Amino acid sequence: MTVTLGFDIYGTLIDTHGVIVQLEKLIGDKATAFSNTWRDKQLEYTFRRGLMRNYENFPVCTRDALNYTCAFYNVDLNSEHKQHLLEGYLSLPTFADVEQGLLDLQTLGVRMYAFSNGIPDALETLLSNAGIRDYFLGIVSVDDIQSFKPNPDVYQHFLTTSGAEANHAWLISSNGFDVIGAVSVGMKAAWIQRSDKVVFDPWGVEPTITVSSLIDLARQLPDN
Ligand code: LAC
Repeated sequence: MTVTLGFDIYGTLIDTHGVIVQLEKLIGDKATAFSNTWRDKQLEYTFRRGLMRNYENFPVCTRDALNYTCAFYNVDLNSEHKQHLLEGYLSLPTFADVEQGLLDLQTLGVRMYAFSNGIPDALETLLSNAGIRDYFLGIVSVDDIQSFKPNPDVYQHFLTTSGAEANHAWLISSNGFDVIGAVSVGMKAAWIQRSDKVVFDPWGVEPTITVSSLIDLARQLPDN
C-alpha cells in the first residue's frame, strides 16, 4: 500500500513566530516573549476546549490567546492592530527546509495531505500564500469533527478522510503532543526536531523516527 503522510501545519511547516516581525513594530523587544506566550496559550486553549467538549474553532482560540497575552504583558493593542496580527496568521512563512523537503518527498511517490487544527479556509489561504498548497492531495481539518489534536478521534478522521490504513500512514510533526497522539492510535510518526534545544515529552511513547528537517525525512523515510 502506498504510504500516506499527514503534515501538521502550524509549527511544523509554517513558522507561527513569523508574527514577530509585525509584533516588533508594535511592542519592540517584548515581541519574542509575547509570541511564545501567544502560541503556548493558543494550544492550551485547544487542549482545554477539547477536554471540556466546548469547541470553538482555531481562529477563536488564537484570538482569545492574543487577548490573554495582551493582558499578561500589559500591552494595549487597539482592535485594528489585533485584527492586523490575526490576519497575519494567514500569511506566515515556512521553515527554511520545507520547500525542498516537500519536493524531495513528492519525488518518493508518497501521498501527501495537510492535517491541522486550523479551519479549512484559513489553511487553503495560508498554504497558497506560502506557495506549498499544490503539494497536497487534500487538507484534513479537525473542524470537521469539532475537536482538536490530540483527541484520538481526529487522527481517526485523518485516516478515514485520506483513505489510509494506520500502519501505512505517517504523521509528520514538530509538535510532541501531536506525535504522541498519532502513535497512540497506531499511526507511524516522524518528529521533526529542528533544534536540539527542543525536548520530546517523556511519556514512554516514542516517535517512529526523529529527523532534523523535511529534507532529512525524505532521506530516512522507510518505503512502507
Ligand atoms: C496544527 C497545530 C498542532 O497545525 O498547530 O494542527
